[in-house]
Order: sequence, then C-alpha cells, then structure tokens
Amino acid sequence: MTPQELKIEAAREAMKDVRSGMSLGLGSGSTAEEFVRLLGQAVKSGTIANVRCTCTSKRTESLAHDVGVSTFALAEVAPIDLAVDGADEIDGNLRLIKGRGGALLREKIVEQQARKFIVIADESKIVARLGEGAFPVEVTPFALDVLFRRFSDEGLQPSLRMAGDQPRVTDEGNRIVDIRVPQKSDIADVVDGLRAMAGVVETGFFPHEATEAIIAAPTGVRRMRRPG
Ligand code: A5P
Repeated sequence: MTPQELKIEAAREAMKDVRSGMSLGLGSGSTAEEFVRLLGQAVKSGTIANVRCTCTSKRTESLAHDVGVSTFALAEVAPIDLAVDGADEIDGNLRLIKGRGGALLREKIVEQQARKFIVIADESKIVARLGEGAFPVEVTPFALDVLFRRFSDEGLQPSLRMAGDQPRVTDEGNRIVDIRVPQKSDIADVVDGLRAMAGVVETGFFPHEATEAIIAAPTGVRRMRRPG
C-alpha cells in the first residue's frame, strides 16, 4: 500500500463516525483532505445530509467547495460535534505535534471547539517521543526577528518557514518558525517557556485536544484512545 492509500484508509474509517445533521470541523493537510473528498462523495450521493462544516484553513475551505461541501464560519457551527484532522507526530498518550502544513492556529481553535476530535494518520506518524522532527511555532510578524534570535540563543535551532523566497504567511497573517525540541527537554516544558514570550501566538503542541486516533498500517486500521 502507498502512503496515500493508507491516508485514504484512515479517512474512510473516520467517515464511519459521521452522521447526517452533524456539525464538523475539517482539518488541513494531505490526510485531512482525503477525508474532505470522501465527505464530498457522501454528500453528493446523499448518504450523508445536512452536515454543517467549518474549516481549519483557507485551503481546506476551497477544497470543500470544490467537492460540494458547504462551509460556515466557526461561530455559526460551534460547538462542533466532530473534528477530523491529521497530525505530524502522535505519542502513546495521544499528544500531538501539528502545523507542518502551517495551519496550526486555526486547527487548534477549531479542535478546541469540538466535542470529539479524531486524528487520522498513517503509522509513520507514531513516535516514542514528541519532537523527533520540526516543531512549528506561530509568531507575530512584529516579534519575528527578536524571537528568532531568542530561540537561537536558547538552543532551539530556529528555521523560518518559507514559501518560495518569501516567509510563509499563515491564514491569520503570522509567520511560522520551526524549532527543534532539545533531546533532554520535555516538549511541555519547552512550550511553557515559549508561551511566556510575547509574540508567540501558538505552538503546534496539542496536549489534550485529540479524543481518538485512527492509524492506518498495511496490516489494517486501528483506533487508539487516550489512556485511562
Ligand atoms: C497542518 O497544519 C498540519 O497540522 C497537518 O494536520 C499535519 O501537518 C499533517 O499533514 P499530513 O496529513 O499532510 O501529513
């Protein structure tokens, strides 16, 4: 199975939790987009009706419209019955790193409004320790240069997210700095330090938002729930 087929399998399993009349939060990234496509097919065929969706990025919103799913402003549908989104890293306690697609702020806002948030992913996203790869931090443009210097001084190895030869601008008009979680540090402690810095808008650490994960592997799809 290709990585893309695994993403589709995870999205297909999440579709089993969708019911007509629900309010839904639609995630961002290649896995979440598969879910949006399947939702579009279900709406078109009439197996699902009257869902009210809100999106975690402009890109997802545009895809939703392309596949025939109407979207609403967050406040029109919140609290949301079910949010479905991908993740970059998932640990055994269902803590996540998100935002390598750049949509972390709207994702966190939407997912904190959801009664249930299912993460969909292929098995490559499971990690023993969060912070194996880049850890995205969203910062205001005004603070960017000074925060970049500070992250560097603190050994966080910052790297500015680019879109071509320009800094990537998020849907909320901010910038993303990818940092590294130092080997000896716990991500939660790093986040506490970051949150104390004015100009840090949000981080890609999602400690308690996810209620369940659907993980697709060549051997099959399994559901992971938050331990006890
Ligand atoms: C978008 O900002 C991210 O949080 C995505 O949910 C995450 O990067 C997973 O993306 P893929 O499904 O493309 O791996």
